[in-house]
Amino acid sequence: MKRLISLLFACSVFLDGCTCREENPIPASLPAEESQSYTLLEAPFGAASAQETQEEIESTAIEALFDITSAQETQKQVKGSREPDILYVPTPQNVVDKMLELAEVKKDDLVYDLGCGDGRIVVTAAKRYGCKAVGYDIDPQRVKDSLENVEKENVGHLVRIEERDIFTLDLSKADVITLYLLPSLNVKLIPQLEKLKPGSRIVSHDFRMRGVKPDKVVKLTSGDDHEKHKVFLWTSPLKKRKAKKPAPVENGSF
Ligand SMILES: C[S@@+](CC[C@H](N)C(=O)[O-])C[C@H]1O[C@@H](n2cnc3c(N)ncnc32)[C@H](O)[C@@H]1O
Repeated sequence: MKRLISLLFACSVFLDGCTCREENPIPASLPAEESQSYTLLEAPFGAASAQETQEEIESTAIEALFDITSAQETQKQVKGSREPDILYVPTPQNVVDKMLELAEVKKDDLVYDLGCGDGRIVVTAAKRYGCKAVGYDIDPQRVKDSLENVEKENVGHLVRIEERDIFTLDLSKADVITLYLLPSLNVKLIPQLEKLKPGSRIVSHDFRMRGVKPDKVVKLTSGDDHEKHKVFLWTSPLKKRKAKKPAPVENGSF
């Protein structure tokens, strides 16, 4: 199973590398250190459409791979509750750190991790920033792992873990939302994310939110898996991309 997950990630990272060069050209003159972090610039209409199409093809391939594994894995893992929409894959610790840094988490913030896995994001937020955090997961095993992690790291006074389906949550109280789901699941969350307070931040490991323009995309390499990862940042209210223009129809010709 571990080998299959590694293969899935290798595919995702390969496809990811192809997209990044096109969607976020990094000026060659930047030093290596700076070239890891940059703000997305508005692309001209035509370029944005081509980019969206390219992203669509690549994301569909990645999602198909995740979905196959998810179905097989969850049949074994989860009895009684609704199946998870994506299998458990942890975010490497330095990517967790970058997500929280990019979201500019403060002590007074309330952080939600939607699909919290072993609770590493909410535990890190509480330990590093002293803020309150809630981790939600639909899989009872992940909830158990998270609760153990919270206890081990002594952050029970700041962190709550709940067994919930993230698509039923009211997110309006959160200041920061962290995600490591799939592009399609990020899109499915949009109606809930639109109820966030102005200025709330959303960060997603590796996956975009189709139709919504990120404020920043940061690339980094993980010391855990030595692979490249991306972190997307959006700020509430979400900046929706313009709908694609339909192709012009020429009169009287085929
Ligand atoms: C890729 S893992 C991410 C774990 C953690 N956030 C991290 O970054 O290390 C996705 C998690 O989402 C959970 N999940 C999938 N569908 C869910 C749903 N509908 N509601 C709540 N959790 C869900 C899975 O059980 C899994 O733990």
